[in-house]
Amino acid sequence: MDVKDAVFNKIYPPCIQAAAERHWTPVAVAKLAAEYLAEKPGKKVLDIGAGAGKFCLVGAASTNGFFYGVEQRASLTKISRKIAEKHDITNVEFINSNINKINFSNYEAFYFFNSFFENIDTSSPIDHTILPDSYLYHTYSDYVKEQLYKTPVGTRLVTYWSKWDEIPGNFELVDSACNGFLSFWEKAS
Ligand SMILES: C[S@@+](CC[C@H](N)C(=O)[O-])C[C@H]1O[C@@H](n2cnc3c(N)ncnc32)[C@H](O)[C@@H]1O
Repeated sequence: MDVKDAVFNKIYPPCIQAAAERHWTPVAVAKLAAEYLAEKPGKKVLDIGAGAGKFCLVGAASTNGFFYGVEQRASLTKISRKIAEKHDITNVEFINSNINKINFSNYEAFYFFNSFFENIDTSSPIDHTILPDSYLYHTYSDYVKEQLYKTPVGTRLVTYWSKWDEIPGNFELVDSACNGFLSFWEKAS
C-alpha cells in the first residue's frame, strides 16, 4: 500500500479531512508502526484512541495483523466501520468505548498517537463534543500505564508524538524515527 495522505484522506467527509494533518497518523508512519507491531500473522493490535480509523485501516490493509480501534467519539467509530465495510477490509474491528473500559490482556501489541493531549492542548480540537479536562489527561495516561505494565515480556508498543506519560518503566525504547516523534518500544521485564 503506497498512497499519499492527500489521496487517502479523500475517503473521509470534509470535516474529517480537515482534522487529518493534526489528528490522524500519516500513511507512511502508520505502515512503519503496523509492520513493527504486526510482525506475525493474526497479531492483535490495539489502537488506543482510533479516531477516524486511519492507523487501523492502513495497518489492516498493509499487514496480516488484526487491528482493533477503540474510540470514545461514536461518530468517528461509525465512519471507521463504514470505510472498512466499503473497502472490504476484514482484519479490523472498531469499538466505541472509553479506553478506561478496555482490558489490555485481550490484545498483543499497542499503538498510541498522543490521544489524551486534547485534554491539555485546546488549540485545535477535533470537534467540541469533549470537554477538555487536564485531570482526564492524567487519569487516562495512568490507566494505560497500569495496563501496559501488566502485559507479557516482549509486548510491542509504538508511540507517536507522545510525552511518554503512559509508558511504564519496564518498557525499553528499541528504535525511533521521524526525528524522535515515532518511538518503538518492547516490554523488557
Ligand atoms: C490523535 S487522534 C489519533 C487517531 C488514530 N489513532 C490515528 O492515528 O489516526 C486521538 C483519538 O483518541 C481519542 N480518544 C481520546 N481519549 C480517549 C479515551 N479516553 N478513550 C477512547 N478514545 C479516546 C480521540 O477522540 C481521538 O479521536
